[in-house]
Amino acid sequence: MKSTTQNSLFTPARNPLMLENRAALITGGAGRLGSVIAATLQREGARVVIADIDRTRLSEVAAKLSLTAKAWSVQGDVSQLQEVQKMVARAESLAGPIDILVNAHGIVPVRNFLEMTPDEWDRPFAVNVRGVMLTCQVFAKRWIERKGRGAIVNISSSASRAARPGRPHYAASKAALNMLTEAMAIELGPHGIRVNGVAPATVLDQVYRGQSPDNPAYVNFTIQGTPLARTGAPEDVAEAVAFLASDRSDWTTGVVLDVTGGAHVARRLSAPTDTQAK
Ligand SMILES: NC(=O)c1ccc[n+]([C@@H]2O[C@H](COP(=O)([O-])OP(=O)(O)OC[C@H]3O[C@@H](n4cnc5c(N)ncnc54)[C@H](O)[C@@H]3O)[C@@H](O)[C@H]2O)c1
Repeated sequence: MKSTTQNSLFTPARNPLMLENRAALITGGAGRLGSVIAATLQREGARVVIADIDRTRLSEVAAKLSLTAKAWSVQGDVSQLQEVQKMVARAESLAGPIDILVNAHGIVPVRNFLEMTPDEWDRPFAVNVRGVMLTCQVFAKRWIERKGRGAIVNISSSASRAARPGRPHYAASKAALNMLTEAMAIELGPHGIRVNGVAPATVLDQVYRGQSPDNPAYVNFTIQGTPLARTGAPEDVAEAVAFLASDRSDWTTGVVLDVTGGAHVARRLSAPTDTQAK
């Protein structure tokens, strides 16, 4: 993007749609976040293909998206190279060349460290890390071969930065994903490929505003440590993804954006200064 003339601060209006003439593949596209990300990218003018392992949810979400046209679905397991290659080839045969990849698939198993088996440990790494590595590699090779540009957005988690009990394998897999995102940004940047991430805190189907005795205890606990005092909505994440996928973030790569209502800077366990023991 060229800089505008120096004698004026006026920036010419951009296309009001951020993603016109673009095409996106969203893995985990049948999920809570992936489906809303797909709808949001579609709203911004992109053709979208949702990819997921869950055939039933995939066809439900695809039916809703296709009401507004320019949406397709492909089924497969992102942790298997051959399935990824097939999904990507099929997606491009349906939607044309794809230049945006959003990795919104993931699994969140719960297991305490002392009880964990080696297989349980491996599973989130296979899906949450290897699955991202495979999809990114397959697309990056295609983009480099066709000398095209590309944008990747990986959905990480606030668990990647803040340790908590009960799912060390999930948290470690998301921390690995952050570093994978940064490392790919370095290698792929010279090819015109941007790689960023979004790290959401708790996003539920329903948004809880403020603490209440009617809320589940974990929701009140979460809100207590969240400056904006509510849980997240899928739309909060989807808007950040749309920005990072678009040319409006043309000079941004290697970033993992915290979308948390401020929870990532709140220190749940430290009291405000005026209440601390003198
Ligand atoms: N919802 C939250 O509060 C939250 C917070 C932080 C991070 N995240 C992350 O966001 C992503 C999406 O979460 P969500 O809440 O939408 O969960 P979700 O379970 O609703 O969606 C995840 C989707 O990934 C698909 N999937 C799982 N394994 C797959 C595989 N091997 N191949 C292809 N698809 C596969 C599932 O079928 C599902 O549709 C995950 O990576 C999750 O870790 C979610």
